[in-house]
Amino acid sequence: MTPRETGEHYDRIAGRWQQETSTDYGMSALERALRWVRQPGSALDVGCGSTGRFLQKMLESGFQIEGLDVSAEMIRLSRERVASANYHCADVSEWDPTIAYSLITAWDSTFHLPRELQQPVIEKLAAALEPGGVLLFTCGGGAAGSISGSFWGEDFDYSTLGVEAFVQHLQAAGCFCRHVEYDQFPENHVVVIAQKG
Ligand SMILES: C[S@@+](CC[C@H](N)C(=O)[O-])C[C@H]1O[C@@H](n2cnc3c(N)ncnc32)[C@H](O)[C@@H]1O
Repeated sequence: MTPRETGEHYDRIAGRWQQETSTDYGMSALERALRWVRQPGSALDVGCGSTGRFLQKMLESGFQIEGLDVSAEMIRLSRERVASANYHCADVSEWDPTIAYSLITAWDSTFHLPRELQQPVIEKLAAALEPGGVLLFTCGGGAAGSISGSFWGEDFDYSTLGVEAFVQHLQAAGCFCRHVEYDQFPENHVVVIAQKG
């Protein structure tokens, strides 16, 4: 499935996502990432979805906020919640950052990318961090590979390089890994927090 097709599937469940996603989901990891940020500057939420909860927390923490999502409907709904964000409707694998960020989050979004795009995207996000900037993302644990599944009646693909490969790519990109956690064990859901040197 291409990222554009993934966006079309999310268009169809964007309203339900906004209504049914817990306002707490991922927030403790975001708070953990925020503790590493030296100075709030620009923050980017990749695959921001429709709830606005990460963007709202970033805003309250003093960042200039940007949301990026390949689903136009997710962005439309997020804008209703957090109007002051600068939004990009784009596939992160095709989008080019034009500024440096002190915080980038990608909560449960980049795991939808095809496997061959995982490394270039994580390298692109790492490169978009200012010195000391923090990257929080989730990825699949376990071995490298791809899977398909159904969620709320929509088909989705997921892929991972495996946690160790992500850590190696981040280190090669000049980042230190500050936190790696299988936060939903025994699910293969992994939180990674990295900081640019
Ligand atoms: C599981 S939802 C998570 C949304 C949000 N991060 C949250 O936790 O509420 C995945 C989101 O990632 C977006 N997404 C998936 N692939 C993407 C891509 N290649 N570029 C940008 N956004 C993408 C989807 O449209 C969707 O909004």
